[in-house]
Amino acid sequence: MKKVTAFIGSQRKKATYQAVQEMEKNLKQYEAMDFEYVFLNDYELQFCRGCKTCFDKGEKFCPLKDDRDMLLEKMEEANGIIFATPNYAFQVSARMKNFFDRFSYMLHRPKFFSKTYTAIVTQGVFGGKDIVKYLEFTGIHLGFDVIKGSCVPVLEPMNDLQQKKLKQEMKKLSDRFYRGLSHSTLSVPSFSRLMVFRMTRASLQSIGEESYDYSYYKDQGWFESDYYYETRLGPIKKSVGIFFDFLGRQLVKHITVKKTF
Ligand SMILES: Cc1cc2nc3c(=O)[nH]c(=O)nc-3n(C[C@H](O)[C@H](O)[C@H](O)COP(=O)(O)O)c2cc1C
Repeated sequence: MKKVTAFIGSQRKKATYQAVQEMEKNLKQYEAMDFEYVFLNDYELQFCRGCKTCFDKGEKFCPLKDDRDMLLEKMEEANGIIFATPNYAFQVSARMKNFFDRFSYMLHRPKFFSKTYTAIVTQGVFGGKDIVKYLEFTGIHLGFDVIKGSCVPVLEPMNDLQQKKLKQEMKKLSDRFYRGLSHSTLSVPSFSRLMVFRMTRASLQSIGEESYDYSYYKDQGWFESDYYYETRLGPIKKSVGIFFDFLGRQLVKHITVKKTF
């Protein structure tokens, strides 16, 4: 049975929760599935201290001892992930931002390749569309298979028209998300995803340090592969990949020259 986990950044069980409940109801109409609500509020996740130990030595050396790994397990167990947050001052809620800060090491070492991901933002009036884009962008860089998210206006008290709109939006999002969930495969990377992988790899190789990221890439066999996972790149993407390798090396040269001044 498939499992979908919704990470909720609201402190309240109101509009954001209601939007996720709609998702659950719709998805369960397509197929029986396990659906879990994870209210970030219920977990202890201290603020990132910015020491960069997770980047440099590995995440297990993080000095903060809290529920981070429990939340990681919840992402690992799920086939589909939803991030739902209210718009707070044109951003995700602070709890959700801290969640992404604490998992930033995975932006260097992505892993959730075949998992379907989407985003829901509820808001009063303005700014939510950019937050959806931020969540989509973050999802891509964590490795997820990202489905276009949704931003829903929910001015309080919600009238019937707004309720109807919320349900319609969540129905459309459920359709998209379910299609993704049903066909989740390791897809051929887009040019931008290929660029991120190849340029990161080339810069790690050029820097030549035995950094934690370098060892991780080495252990995964990523210095020899075309992409993070086995995939069939056509002749154009193969050539463009080689070009990105070159660009990555040039970028490091450029940064190193600049640093000497
Ligand atoms: C601290 C705070 C900041 C907010 N900032 C914005 C904002 O910048 N733009 C906006 O449209 N709505 C803003 N809102 C409204 C919320 O996004 C909106 O009420 C949201 O749907 C509440 O979700 P909830 O019912 O799950 O708590 C803000 C609300 C709060 C409490």
